Amino acid sequence: RLLGTASAAGVAGLALGGAGGAYAHAATREDPPTALSTLGSRSVPFHGAHQAGITTPAQAHGHLVAFDLAPGAGRKEAAALLRRWSDAARRMMAGEPVKGGRGGADTGIALDAGPSSLTVTFGFGRTFFGRTGLKDRLPRELAPLPDFSADVLDKKRSDGDLWVQVGADDALVAFHALRALQREAGKTAKPRWQMNGFNRSPGATSHPMTVRNLMGQVDGTNNPKQSEKDFAEKVFVPEGGSPEWMAGGSYVVLRRIRMLLDDWDERSLAEQEKVIGRRKSDGAPLSGGKEHTKPDLEKRAKGTLAIAANAHIRVAAPETNGDAAMLRRPFSFHDGFRDDGAPDAGLLFLAWQADPLRGFVPVQRKLDRGDALSPFLRHEASGLFAVPGGPREGEYVGQRLLE
Ligand code: HEM
Repeated sequence: RLLGTASAAGVAGLALGGAGGAYAHAATREDPPTALSTLGSRSVPFHGAHQAGITTPAQAHGHLVAFDLAPGAGRKEAAALLRRWSDAARRMMAGEPVKGGRGGADTGIALDAGPSSLTVTFGFGRTFFGRTGLKDRLPRELAPLPDFSADVLDKKRSDGDLWVQVGADDALVAFHALRALQREAGKTAKPRWQMNGFNRSPGATSHPMTVRNLMGQVDGTNNPKQSEKDFAEKVFVPEGGSPEWMAGGSYVVLRRIRMLLDDWDERSLAEQEKVIGRRKSDGAPLSGGKEHTKPDLEKRAKGTLAIAANAHIRVAAPETNGDAAMLRRPFSFHDGFRDDGAPDAGLLFLAWQADPLRGFVPVQRKLDRGDALSPFLRHEASGLFAVPGGPREGEYVGQRLLE
């Protein structure tokens, strides 16, 4: 009884927001139902100019999955699948149950939770266009990425006809969505590969701050900001852009980048900071100031560059790359340990841009020639997908391509 009271108080303490979700959770059978916490009740709109999951703050849990169309499945089957997937995504992002179990029942995995900022994002790989007879609509931006000297790519974990990104602040909500989408794929498309990632949970820090990656660095500081007037131009294909069906869409480059953490964690703090060009504690540039102070690439102390010539932020900065820019929205991953005992862990690097040739490609070319971070990284899988604009009311994702 006492225990019940204590846990009811705990749940009530968390209940800061309104009852935004479809379900409320009671701590024990006797407790009155309480509202969802803000975390559970948050929802992201499915409809809009752009698909959700691009500018949405990165969630705590992510699944990236590529599917290949089954033999015999063409444009008609793909269109029907995108319609089913869109319908399921719209419902789940609103916290509603979907088909998945026997007889069309929901699987129940997310039953007690609210939408928890769930987003589902869909994209098309280069091979999709050949399989569906749509080669005339293949964007030139989907030209294969060049080879980079440091690539050790696993083809089986790269590319794919269709790509799905699921993100949510609750692991069960994320898995529920993934499972429902896999069931909907049915006989039309088969999973090709899957990667699972994570970020910090909202509320784990005393105030919202830029996340850290598994090297311990503050990562994401100098991303383009939505408040900047050229943000949309960098990230999204404009209305009237080419091809027409990609208006409001974006191109995503995915790299599974394993970090050589055993090497990295043996380096001194000073060495680690020099590699990036920023302080580890708060992400401030080594030229001085706070996290969001503009790095001064010219600054010298006693004749030495404050931000080293091969520091990651100097080599990757738009100023040194003809303004090439992208929105980085990664998830960390940890898939256990390798045979040598090293963690199989790193970054599911996701870069969003209006054109990969003015974003990822020139920057990676330069990093590949030898920035200070590259020796600690291995690029193990790669993908490039066209992510069409957001669906209007009544539309499914990709309709403008497939109709
Ligand atoms: C900046 C880490 C891979 C492009 C940064 C920063 C860190 C970081 C800590 C500084 C903070 C920030 O502005 O976000 C990493 C790690 C990587 C990785 C750990 C691999 C596991 C890449 C790749 C690219 C890239 C593959 C692109 C091809 C950039 C860009 C910036 C940046 C454009 C901002 C530079 C600026 O304008 O100041 N990265 N990075 N990074 N990184 Fe990376």
